[in-house]
Amino acid sequence: MKILITSALPYANGPLHFGHIAGAYLPGDCYARFERLKGNEVLYLCGSDEYGVAITLSADLAGRTPKQHVDLFHEINKAFFEKLEFSFDHYSRTTWPGHVPTVQSFYRDLADKGLIEEKVENHLYSEKENRFLADRYVVGTCPKCGYQEARGDECQSCAASYEATDLKNPRSKLTGSPLVLKPSNHLYLRFDHFKEQLTTWIQSKVWKENVVNFAMRYIEELKPRAITRDSEWGVPVPGMPDKVFYVWFDAPIGYISAAKEWAVKTGKPDRWEDYWLDEKTKLVQFIGKDNIPFHAVFFPAMIMGQNLPYKLPDEIPANEFYLLEGRQFSKSEGWTIDLEDFFTKYTPDQIRYCVAANAPETSDSEFSWKDFQMRCNAELLGKFGNFVHRVLVFAKQQCNSRVPKRGELHEVDKKFSQEMNALVATAALHFEGFSLRKASQTLMELSHLGNVYFDMKKPWALAKDPASRESLDTCIALCVECIKNLSLLATPIIPHSAQKVWEMLGFTSTLAKGSWKKIHETPLPTGQHLAADPVPLFRKVEDAEIEEQIAKLHAMAKLKEKPMETTSYEAMKETISFEQFDKVDIRVAQILEAVKVPKSKKLLKLTVDLGFEKRTIVSGIALKYQPEELIGKKVLLLANLTPATLMGIESQGMILAAGMGSDLELPMIQHLPPGSLVS
Ligand code: MF3
Ligand code: ZN
Repeated sequence: MKILITSALPYANGPLHFGHIAGAYLPGDCYARFERLKGNEVLYLCGSDEYGVAITLSADLAGRTPKQHVDLFHEINKAFFEKLEFSFDHYSRTTWPGHVPTVQSFYRDLADKGLIEEKVENHLYSEKENRFLADRYVVGTCPKCGYQEARGDECQSCAASYEATDLKNPRSKLTGSPLVLKPSNHLYLRFDHFKEQLTTWIQSKVWKENVVNFAMRYIEELKPRAITRDSEWGVPVPGMPDKVFYVWFDAPIGYISAAKEWAVKTGKPDRWEDYWLDEKTKLVQFIGKDNIPFHAVFFPAMIMGQNLPYKLPDEIPANEFYLLEGRQFSKSEGWTIDLEDFFTKYTPDQIRYCVAANAPETSDSEFSWKDFQMRCNAELLGKFGNFVHRVLVFAKQQCNSRVPKRGELHEVDKKFSQEMNALVATAALHFEGFSLRKASQTLMELSHLGNVYFDMKKPWALAKDPASRESLDTCIALCVECIKNLSLLATPIIPHSAQKVWEMLGFTSTLAKGSWKKIHETPLPTGQHLAADPVPLFRKVEDAEIEEQIAKLHAMAKLKEKPMETTSYEAMKETISFEQFDKVDIRVAQILEAVKVPKSKKLLKLTVDLGFEKRTIVSGIALKYQPEELIGKKVLLLANLTPATLMGIESQGMILAAGMGSDLELPMIQHLPPGSLVS
């Protein structure tokens, strides 16, 4: 079978870290490696996503041209994947010139069918810079709270979201120049036309529930979406100078262009068609959960709307997020792992195994240094490495490092053999079903099974009695079979160590190029030379080094913490009369419920009791207070404020807090009941 595998094309906009690897990448690589062993014709593609406003903005801020910027990070990320022994058949980039005609032909087909319409709208324009500015380049005064440094899409002070054109006094983030509204025409793709076709298609899939549900929510609300941007950095739009395609229009087409570039590289430029245009190819797209709408809805719609019979994805294994010690990886906050240092101390296989064993398949998971140590010591070294080592050392002493001839199998031997074969079959099912976590677990179960069998047979005792020779030989022969199966199961996850084990069994071939079935079913030849001096596969990770790493992480984070803001007092407001103040109704309110507002860092949704009634309040205190700690607390509520809607929730009043810089504190009432009036 032909299997086309892709991992989301990472932005060439900064260095990747282990958090990325766990979602769309390592699971894709292990799957590709497994399917190759199964004898399938695998084409595994990835590459850099190099266009878009996020990239031009970072490049501008770093003083690089966009091209210099993506060249830099394309190489850095490519090298990172190589370090981790990724087996991409090709690592492309969307600035590859061959990408342009592919994108433009999607556009032409869609336009010919009347699926694209042009609309004129006002956009923010900098006369000084002589260009339109995307939201991310814009700052201004928040239309809701008056904060003067609000971002183009969302206010970081009051969390209101709005259109950049709603900002008062809009300015360029880069030059500070004032912006004016100027009409600009853009192309919109009529995604709404695909509702029915997408629904039927999605509903025919047996995908993870979260993927289907998430996709369906998007499908229900499909609207025309702009596919062009005012920029010079991107795929040019035919007939519209100064415009490029929106990055999410061109990037997924990058998967097709990557196959074309691969085909050119192999000397058979049409070969990409065997994968992309053949209905019998299975297309598997590995992504992180934040990319679901683009892969399950928008890109499929684009394919449905153009003329070539491109494959739609057959599987979209979407993984959750992978954190570092409970927090998101963040370079700017110093919450990260120094990769250069990491790879001087640890091997790619150690991190590959650790990530695989804890892959974020059904919920977010995390890298923790203690877990890493446990995986390295108790599992890789203690179970897998230890079994290989003790068997080979024993075979050296008792069999002169040759595979002995197995004798008649007794009940224990048969049982061991059956259980071993069952675990090999189980592992295959897990690899096939995108359960990398369970596949890793099965690798350890097989190591454990081998160790238990070895202990039970006590070959060291058998060695003392010449009459037990046959039984001893059978034990060793079955144990080396187990090692062979272990190397097979280990190949997709820890390819380097698997190959080492394979060579210690006396093979000279490349294990990864072998066949799963054949290797599993063919016993090691009797008499084959085993390694006489088995090399240790893994090194023990000491407590002291782990403590040092943890201390380093916290020290780095501390260093990056914002320095204490110098106190700058807000100017006094104008004097008011008592009558004016007396109009303000401030009440004691008791918090009954508190939950985070989805997609907002700052907002909590509170249900409060005023004694005589209950109210819903949205409050921007989430950075400072956890929902749990607020329940039951009595705070002050400005109760006669006109209701306002924040993130789609109507807030019926405002919780009062004292603030200084970015810090804030709630005054709390101890004894008086809810409803008490403050005057
Ligand atoms: N660059 C995007 C990200 O890192 C993923 C792009 S996937 C593709 O989130 F489909 F657009 F290629
Ligand atoms: Zn605001």
